Amino acid sequence: MHQENKSNMEVISAPYIDLPPVLRREINAMLHLAYQCEGEPDLDEALHRPALEARAFWLMDNGRLAAYASVFGKTIIHQEAEFSLGSLGCVATQPEMRGRSLGERVVAAASDWLRACGRYDIAAFTCDVGLLPFYRRAAGWEAADLVLVANDKESALRSDALGKVVVLELLSGRARAAEASFRGAAVNLDLPPGEFI
Ligand SMILES: CC(C)(COP(=O)(O)OP(=O)(O)OC[C@H]1O[C@@H](n2cnc3c(N)ncnc32)[C@H](O)[C@@H]1OP(=O)(O)O)[C@@H](O)C(=O)NCCC(=O)NCCS
Repeated sequence: MHQENKSNMEVISAPYIDLPPVLRREINAMLHLAYQCEGEPDLDEALHRPALEARAFWLMDNGRLAAYASVFGKTIIHQEAEFSLGSLGCVATQPEMRGRSLGERVVAAASDWLRACGRYDIAAFTCDVGLLPFYRRAAGWEAADLVLVANDKESALRSDALGKVVVLELLSGRARAAEASFRGAAVNLDLPPGEFI
C-alpha cells in the first residue's frame, strides 16, 4: 500500500481497495456511528464498490482512526455528453475528537486530490446546508444551482427532496465549456437503488 505520509497525525492516503481489513473495519465502525446508521455495523462489508475506484484519506491519533474522507468517481451522461464525476464522501471524525480541525484536514487533503488527480471532469457532492460553511472553510467548496438525481426511477433519491445542497465544481475545460447546461439542471447520476452522493 502506498502511503503518502506515514507520520502520526498527518493525512494518509491510499486506494481504498489496498486498505488492510482491520483499518476497513475501523472506518466502517466509525462511519456507522457518525451517520447514526441502524443496527450493528457490517464489519466485512466493503464501504466503496470497486467500480467507484475510491481513494481513502484518513488521520490516525495514537494508533486509532481519528477522521476519514474518501473520493470516488463514476461516469455520468449529461445532455448526451459523457463526463467523469468525482465525489467527496464518507466524511467523519470520531465523536470525542471533533472540533480539532481533523475533519477539515481530511476534507482539505481529499479535495486537493479530487481537483488535481486529472481523473474527473466534474466534482460534485451533496451535504446538509448547515455543513456548507465547514466544506467552504476546509477546501473552498460552494453550493450550486442544480439538483442531483440518483437514477431515472420514479422513486429515485434526489438532493432537493432530501433537503441537501449540491456542491459543484467544473474541473475540465470540457465541463467548463458546458457550464450553462448545468445551471438549474437535474443531473442523473445513474446510481444503483439506495445509493447517493
Ligand atoms: C462533520 C464532521 C466530520 C466535522 O468533524 P470535525 O473534526 O469536528 O471538524 P472540524 O473540527 O474541522 O470542524 C468543526 C466545525 O464543523 C461544524 N460542524 C460539525 N458538524 C456540523 C453540523 N452537523 N452542522 C453544522 N456544522 C457542523 C462545527 O460546528 C465546527 O465549526 P466551528 O469550529 O465553527 O464550531 C463531524 O462533526 C462528523 O463526523 N459528523 C457526523 C458525520 C457527518 O455529518 N459527516 C458529513 C456528512 S456531509
